[in-house]
Amino acid sequence: MNILIIGGAGYIGSHVAREFLDQGHRVTVFDNLSSGLRGNLFPEARFIHGDILDYAGLLRAASGKPDSIVGSAGGKAGAPFDALVHLAASKAAGESMVRPEKYSVNNISGTMNILNAAAETGIRNIVFSSSAAVYGEPQYLPIDEKHPTNPENYYGFTKLEIERFLGWYDKLKGIHFAALRYFNAAGYDVKGRLAGLEQNPANLIPIIMEAAIGIRKEVQVFGDDYDTPDGTCIRDYVHVSDLSTGHAAALDYISRTGKSLSLNLGSETGSSVLEVLETARKVSGKPIPAKTVGRRPGDPAKLTASSGLAHELLGWTAKHSDMETLIKTSWDVYNKQ
Ligand code: WQD
Repeated sequence: MNILIIGGAGYIGSHVAREFLDQGHRVTVFDNLSSGLRGNLFPEARFIHGDILDYAGLLRAASGKPDSIVGSAGGKAGAPFDALVHLAASKAAGESMVRPEKYSVNNISGTMNILNAAAETGIRNIVFSSSAAVYGEPQYLPIDEKHPTNPENYYGFTKLEIERFLGWYDKLKGIHFAALRYFNAAGYDVKGRLAGLEQNPANLIPIIMEAAIGIRKEVQVFGDDYDTPDGTCIRDYVHVSDLSTGHAAALDYISRTGKSLSLNLGSETGSSVLEVLETARKVSGKPIPAKTVGRRPGDPAKLTASSGLAHELLGWTAKHSDMETLIKTSWDVYNKQ
């Protein structure tokens, strides 16, 4: 297929682009490089430096007639896209509570432009990066897709609203979608082909890695008095290489069946903050200083996914999401810095 990957130079997007290239698809990456990196681009893919908030430029890109393209994807410029993958968003849940305007513009307005460009240019399949943040405080575990959606932060709200817009564009415009609700994405390409570090990471594993290589003094553990075996929060960490195969399987499903879906991608395994730290110390051989501080507001004690639906519909399971592999692939990248 001929696939447009919007946000394809970012941390998750670049892994997804790699997977589609590996599977023999033609890939064009569209990215404004605000957090994406040139170093995450592959020579086999075309690259368009553009912004989803510039509707005219996005429309030209989606129609296969961008102002400028770099690279050769082995196909003709001007060929229509069969699908687009949308990973371009602001994603810091905490920040979204103090700067909602940024999330309204980048996530909601940006997605409206993408949906309208898809409708106008006849792109009929969209794979969308959604989030477990759509569920909010868990009412039961593991969380399956029937769990009520009640986001606790504005970021999660934007993802849920976008899923609803996708539903309407499916009904009204015949655009099939897969909204993939990621749990805690982590790790680096299991074949070691990607090494772009996220700037100012807000997530636990990159923070631990920064402490391991000494660019951060210590890791702050946000609370050790939760109702969990060691008192620290439990999360479902899922490897980006697994997320990537999930995107490919989801696109195959929606384009083949013409059915849309919202589904979880998680490892179905929970790890506590202290377990993640211990694995990182073992794999890196570094002491990684840590200090317990107060709880972070809005953190549920425990979050784990049921990925049963992804297994049933797509035949997908996480294969690289054990904590050793998550940490080892991250450490291999950070240790080279
Ligand atoms: C993991 C655990 C923290 C940093 C976020 C988004 C969510 C989704 C996934 C995108 C928690 C603890 C963290 C630190 C710590 N994103 N922690 N010290 O909050 O589970 O989920 O990413 O869709 O929407 O909210 O991920 O990596 O921030 O935290 O102790 O310095 O690590 O309290 O228990 P989170 P995280």
